[in-house]
Amino acid sequence: MNVTLKIRRFNPERDREPWWGTYTVEAESTDRLLDALNHVKWYQDGTLTFRRSCAHGVCGSDAMLINGSNALACKVLLKDLGQHVTVEPLRGFRVIKDLLVDLEPFFAKYRQVKPYLITASAPPANERLQSPAERERYDDTTKCILCGACTTACPSFWANPAYIGPAAIVNAHRFIFDSRDEGAEERLSILNTADGVWRCRTIFNCVEACPRGINVTRAIGEVKQALLYRKL
Ligand code: SF4
Ligand code: FES
Repeated sequence: MNVTLKIRRFNPERDREPWWGTYTVEAESTDRLLDALNHVKWYQDGTLTFRRSCAHGVCGSDAMLINGSNALACKVLLKDLGQHVTVEPLRGFRVIKDLLVDLEPFFAKYRQVKPYLITASAPPANERLQSPAERERYDDTTKCILCGACTTACPSFWANPAYIGPAAIVNAHRFIFDSRDEGAEERLSILNTADGVWRCRTIFNCVEACPRGINVTRAIGEVKQALLYRKL
């Protein structure tokens, strides 16, 4: 099949405004969008810039706006996109070049919620044990690959870039509900602000955008409930 890619291009060293580049690629219907982007870069225009690494939906590098929805380029098949595909950078972050956005503010918010095990008590002789039910409590939020698709699909974030965003809350949830962790109060107080968890207006775009199928809105709701009722 022939696929036409309309890609939003921008090189701040050369362009005053973003512009649309149009490229036609001959591809198999079972190819991924990433294959088509690679084809453009390798055979048509080597200046096209985008992030990718694993090519298997694991590293979270290639989230982009594809036909108007956030997705990983390595996880969407061309046959599901049609013969005319529009590709844009994630919304809400500074474009460094073409589809490459500056994710530093995103990772700064991730670091803000202390996404690591915090313990104050003395370590047990062997290991910190956890029952299967306790592990299940936060299983969904362990699946996050930090692709940024949820945060950049969120109108609350577009309207207020200071909002900590769904991805950071998901990663706080992963530790807040971990029975071995002792830093929940610290994380909850970080999120208990107008630009923290309360900026979420339950719009659900994040759930639709998440390539890992995480119920992001439910996780945010559980953090809100923990704040209101301290039910961990
Ligand atoms: S919650 Fe889902 S969409 Fe958000 S950063 Fe994690 S994997 Fe990506
Ligand atoms: S390139 Fe790693 S998730 Fe797509």
